[in-house]
Amino acid sequence: MSSPVQTLKLASDVQIPWLAWGNGSGAASKVPLEAGLTALKTGIRHIDTAQGYRNEGAAGEAIRKSGIPKDDVFVTSKLSGPTSGDKETHSLEEVRPAIQESIKKLGFVPDLFLIHNPFVVAPGDLKKTWQILEDMKAAGELKEIGVSNFRPQDLELILDGAKYKPAVNQIEYHPYTLTHLEPVLAIQAKHGIVTESYGPLTPLLRHPNGGPIKPILTRIAKRIAEANPNLPIPIDEVVVLLLWTRATGVVAVTASGNEGRIKLLADISYLPADLLKKEEVEEIINVGKTVHFRHYREHMEEDFALPSLPDGTA
Ligand SMILES: NC(=O)c1ccc[n+]([C@@H]2O[C@H](COP(=O)([O-])OP(=O)(O)OC[C@H]3O[C@@H](n4cnc5c(N)ncnc54)[C@H](OP(=O)(O)O)[C@@H]3O)[C@@H](O)[C@H]2O)c1
Repeated sequence: MSSPVQTLKLASDVQIPWLAWGNGSGAASKVPLEAGLTALKTGIRHIDTAQGYRNEGAAGEAIRKSGIPKDDVFVTSKLSGPTSGDKETHSLEEVRPAIQESIKKLGFVPDLFLIHNPFVVAPGDLKKTWQILEDMKAAGELKEIGVSNFRPQDLELILDGAKYKPAVNQIEYHPYTLTHLEPVLAIQAKHGIVTESYGPLTPLLRHPNGGPIKPILTRIAKRIAEANPNLPIPIDEVVVLLLWTRATGVVAVTASGNEGRIKLLADISYLPADLLKKEEVEEIINVGKTVHFRHYREHMEEDFALPSLPDGTA
C-alpha cells in the first residue's frame, strides 16, 4: 500500500487498513458501485464483500473506475453458501470453482478470502474446506485466508494440524458481545488470529437505547473534542466506538450508503490512533461486558452458550 492509510498487522506482517467499508448491508448494498466509488474517492482503502452479497462485481468495477491502483486497496471476499438453487451448503467439489468464480467477478485475487460461516458446507466437510483454501494459498491462487462467524469448536477443528492458521475471524464484535466472545478471543489471541468486527455500531444503531456504554461514549466524545479543537470532523459516539474498536486491535468492518456518512467513515479512518485514553478503552470494555446484546443471531448462537447477562435495556 502506498497511501498513508492506517493499518493493523496480520500475523504474516501484511498490513490491513483498520477500517473497512462493506457492501453487504443497508443502503450500501443497494447501490454498491456508486457507494463503492464514493468510498474510494473519499479515502476508504478496504472494501469488504462476499459471494452472498452479490456485489463482488461492483467492488471490482468501483476500483477500476476510481483509477486507484488495485494494490492500494485491500479487498476481502468470502465463500458464502450457494447463491443459486435450493441447496444451503456447497459440496466439497463445488468449493474451488466457487472461489474461482469470486476471483473472476472481482477481476483480481482478493487480499483476504474468508469462509463466510461454518455452515456454508456440511459440518463434516469444514476441515476439508479449510484445506482447499490452504492448498489454493500454497499454490499462489489465494493470498491471505481466514474465517468468519467461527465459534470455538470451528476454530479448534481447523487449527488442528493446520498448514496455515486463519489470518482473521470476522465476527459481530462490540462491547456488548465481549463476554460471549471470551472463548473465541482467547483462541484467537493464542494463535495470532486478528479479529474483524462487523456490526461495530450495533450498540448505537440497533440497541433500543444504547445501553450503559452510550453515556460513556458521549462523555469521551466531548472530552476528545475539547482536547483536540483542530480535528477535521466532529467527534461523536459513532467516532468513539470505531476508535475503541481499533484501540482493541480489531479491524472495524462498517458501512454506509450515504455520501456524507461514507466521507465521515473515510475521515475517521485517518484520525490519529491515540485519541482514546487507555483507561477510556478499559472503561468501555468493563461496562460493555456487563451486557449481552447481539444483532446478527443466526450463526454464533448455535451450540455456543450465551452468557446470562441483561440486555442493557433497563
Ligand atoms: N461476515 C458476516 O457474516 C457479516 C455480517 C454482517 C455484516 N458484515 C459486513 O460488515 C459490513 C458492515 O456491517 P454492519 O452494517 O452491521 O455495520 P455497522 O457499522 O454496525 O452499521 C453500518 C450502518 O451504520 C450506519 N452509519 C454509518 N456511519 C454512520 C454515522 N456516522 N452515523 C450514524 N450511522 C452511521 C450506516 O447507515 P447509512 O447507510 O444510512 O449511512 C450503515 O447502515 C457489511 O456491509 C458487511 O460487509 C459481515
